[in-house]
Amino acid sequence: MESERYLTFALTKGRLADQSLKLLTNAGFECEELVDQKSRKLVFVNEEKKLRFFLAKAPDVPTYVEYGVADIGITGKDTIMEEARRVFEVLDLKLGKCRMCVCGPASARTLLEHHELIRVASKYPRIARDYFYNEKYQTVDIIKLNGSVELGPIVGLSDVIVDIVETGGTLRENGLDVLEEVCPISARMIVNQVSMRMENERIRELINRLREVVG
Ligand code: PRP
Repeated sequence: MESERYLTFALTKGRLADQSLKLLTNAGFECEELVDQKSRKLVFVNEEKKLRFFLAKAPDVPTYVEYGVADIGITGKDTIMEEARRVFEVLDLKLGKCRMCVCGPASARTLLEHHELIRVASKYPRIARDYFYNEKYQTVDIIKLNGSVELGPIVGLSDVIVDIVETGGTLRENGLDVLEEVCPISARMIVNQVSMRMENERIRELINRLREVVG
């Protein structure tokens, strides 16, 4: 029996939204209305299948899912780790693959090796802190930035950065190297903890279909 309640998805705006929508469409959870992404509309509905979609900034996706206004979210593992919300991470969608890395000038290698008290600039202060304090047992100063983090070591704000590396192009153009790898990153599906119990059948079906599509 088709449930009357909408299943609500929070998707990450931008390139990931296009890729997530393709996956969802292939899994049979499509939304015609959303295909025209030029519109500034933020909420889209598939009335027939009782699906609702909205587009949000990446860091807000886990927030919507934790508070239950979205049953399901799709966003990067980087965001999920940084936001540390109470949600279930249920599936690796293998989209947007990249790596979280410690990067800097080659000269910063020795500072890392000797566990010096270095300055680390990052858009991801929690990930940076977890990595240095809990994995490397190295005390560091973390400086939160909001973008163009590569500037940190170039202008002398920090010794290294913790940031995403995809093609490596940004690092190369700025004379920086990957010094250490923190973890691999890709887009994940997250689920609200209450929805997982209440909408278990529909969500299980979605996970199974997506798993087949993702391969
Ligand atoms: C991300 C990341 C790096 C860059 C890595 O920045 O922070 O700067 O992409 O990609 P690459 O290895 O392919 O060069 P984004 O474009 O999201 O912008 P931002 O600097 O404003 O965060």
